[in-house]
Amino acid sequence: MLACTRCGLSATRTNAVPGTGPCPAEIMIVGEAPGFNEDAQGKPFVGQAGKLLDTLLAGIGLRREDVYITNVLKCRPPQNRDPMPNEVEACANYLNWQLKLVEPKVVIVLGRHALERLLPGHGPISRVHGQMVDRAGVNYVAVYHPAAALHNGSLVNDLQADFLSVRRYLDQVLAPPPPPEPEPPAPPAPPQQLNLI
Ligand code: URA
Repeated sequence: MLACTRCGLSATRTNAVPGTGPCPAEIMIVGEAPGFNEDAQGKPFVGQAGKLLDTLLAGIGLRREDVYITNVLKCRPPQNRDPMPNEVEACANYLNWQLKLVEPKVVIVLGRHALERLLPGHGPISRVHGQMVDRAGVNYVAVYHPAAALHNGSLVNDLQADFLSVRRYLDQVLAPPPPPEPEPPAPPAPPQQLNLI
């Protein structure tokens, strides 16, 4: 992936940004594409949007080291423009492999581009954000992208509410199995026969 030349973004990137975090992991986060800081450092979500993501994760009791974080595109589009369909297509197998290897139980889908890539046709982010859907045994929750909330402050409350919904879903999906039922008490021993012989 680091040396990939499957699309034109390889000519303008500084570093490919595959993703970071434990593998396997119960929770995976998928964003849109690396930005300036991510391209410079080769790590996802290390700029302003990443700081907000860290804060949102902390608000629901998670640290970034607890989750696997990646993007739809592994290379930065110039001037942070939207991903183009041929770029999403060229990168598709990388994300497919990551989903197989990481085996998440819950995928947090950040923003409309990740939503369209992972749940095509599911609906606009404005309608489906904060809702969990099951696809082939993996639970997906779409939330607004932190960068969208940085540009449009009116989305911050929605984004915080989305993360509280994520917490509730995590509590359902990752709940430890109930303890085994206690053994039923042994039946009382039959009365002892007196041996009269
Ligand atoms: N925005 C994204 O979608 N991904 C990053 O890694 C950084 C900002």
